[in-house]
Amino acid sequence: MPHGYTRTQIILHWLIFALILAQFVFHDGISDAFEDLERSGTFTGTPLMAQHIFTGILILGLVVWRLVIRLRRGAPPLPENEPAMLKLAAHGTHIALYLLMVLVPVSGMVAWFGASGDAADAHEIMKSVLLVLVALHVAGALVQKFVLKTNVLSRMVKPNP
Ligand code: HEM
Ligand code: HEM
Repeated sequence: MPHGYTRTQIILHWLIFALILAQFVFHDGISDAFEDLERSGTFTGTPLMAQHIFTGILILGLVVWRLVIRLRRGAPPLPENEPAMLKLAAHGTHIALYLLMVLVPVSGMVAWFGASGDAADAHEIMKSVLLVLVALHVAGALVQKFVLKTNVLSRMVKPNP
């Protein structure tokens, strides 16, 4: 098992976090364009709309890259004294986060390029689930740092291959 995460894994983690944040903050362009598309079959392209599509596809590429590294290397073990229930919750959350980081952009692409209302509904539901899981994940990271006082947060900051 590796002792920690590599520099590439750490950069990818925080870069993907920043890009996902941008997707949530700047979604008005794509939401308006998709509404026009569904209502009238046409839309006016805007830079913000294009940003959502390009950033979303970029996220998918970076997530696949990150998953390949993760599956090849494995992950550092959680602290030994951590309760089994918390370890299970952390692993489950990580798997669900990876799954949603793939399914959210894929559903967006099917919605946009296939003009599919069903895929757009799935995109909206899954982005909300992603948001809840990220909140849980951040809460977990803060509990590690301030309650359990472990090095789990710092290992997503300092590379230790
Ligand atoms: C991880 C990547 C992505 C995230 C976090 C994300 C997030 C979001 C959010 C927050 C909305 C607003 C939903 C609402 O109005 O409540 C949205 C809408 C939308 N996104 Fe994405 N998105 C991602 C990737 C993509 C990609 C790659 C595409 C297409 C190439 C896409 C296409 C769309 C479309 C068409 C809508 C409008 C759907 C609707 O309003 O019903 N998204 N996205
Ligand atoms: C969009 C937001 C985020 C997503 C999708 C995300 C996703 C993930 C995933 C999938 C892992 C597992 C890494 C692996 O084993 O391959 C991870 C690890 C980690 N994340 Fe995040 N993360 C996000 C934001 C954050 C934030 C804001 C923090 C800090 C407050 C954070 C702190 C950590 C830490 C400390 C780890 C390492 C856990 C460990 O070593 O077991 N993450 N993240």
